[in-house]
Amino acid sequence: MPPSYILRRFELRDLPRVISINRRCLPENYSESFFISHHENFPEIFLVAEKDGEVVGYVMCRVEIDFSQFSLIPFSSPKKGHIISIAVLPEHQRKGIGRALIEKALENMVKIYNAKRCYLEVRVSNYPAINLYKKTGFEVQRIIRGYYADGENAYIMSKDLQ
Ligand SMILES: CC(C)(COP(=O)(O)OP(=O)(O)OC[C@H]1O[C@@H](n2cnc3c(N)ncnc32)[C@H](O)[C@@H]1OP(=O)(O)O)[C@@H](O)C(=O)NCCC(=O)NCCS
Repeated sequence: MPPSYILRRFELRDLPRVISINRRCLPENYSESFFISHHENFPEIFLVAEKDGEVVGYVMCRVEIDFSQFSLIPFSSPKKGHIISIAVLPEHQRKGIGRALIEKALENMVKIYNAKRCYLEVRVSNYPAINLYKKTGFEVQRIIRGYYADGENAYIMSKDLQ
């Protein structure tokens, strides 16, 4: 059966809804300008899932220079994608939307921004998200102690895109 939702680029009119999903689903909240700057700079990897005309989830990413592979010729330095935030409204979870958002964002990171790797941070207690990332090919690389404002540790997870 085809999915009952569509994936599309975030548009400015989605901002209030995306901010409300972010606040409902995550303790890490951002200013309007943070969302807008990601949309302006990386429009193809800030995506929303829409069901029956309503946005029910989003993924917001960016692309960075991979300084661990830094070359003196800046344009030849590999780029890496960074998943900044993803959330799906509770009543729409476990229907494949999170996975579809990640897979489309990863595809665009490679095709449009030429990223060679992708990484993200996740709370060590966030089993749903850790499972989702493992299912989409990410592996735990290391732990950052006290990464979050409340002192919780983060896993850095990454995936080779080549
Ligand atoms: C993490 C999140 C985005 C997953 O979205 P989703 O649309 O429910 O995910 P999917 O339906 O695509 O699930 C894909 C896989 O992820 C894993 N997963 C998702 N939710 C899970 C849960 N509650 N418990 C265990 N595994 C889960 C499963 O492996 C699942 O595959 P399956 O359904 O075939 O078993 C969603 O739970 C969410 O918005 N959580 C709150 C915000 C958040 O924590 N964001 C991540 C911050 S790093």
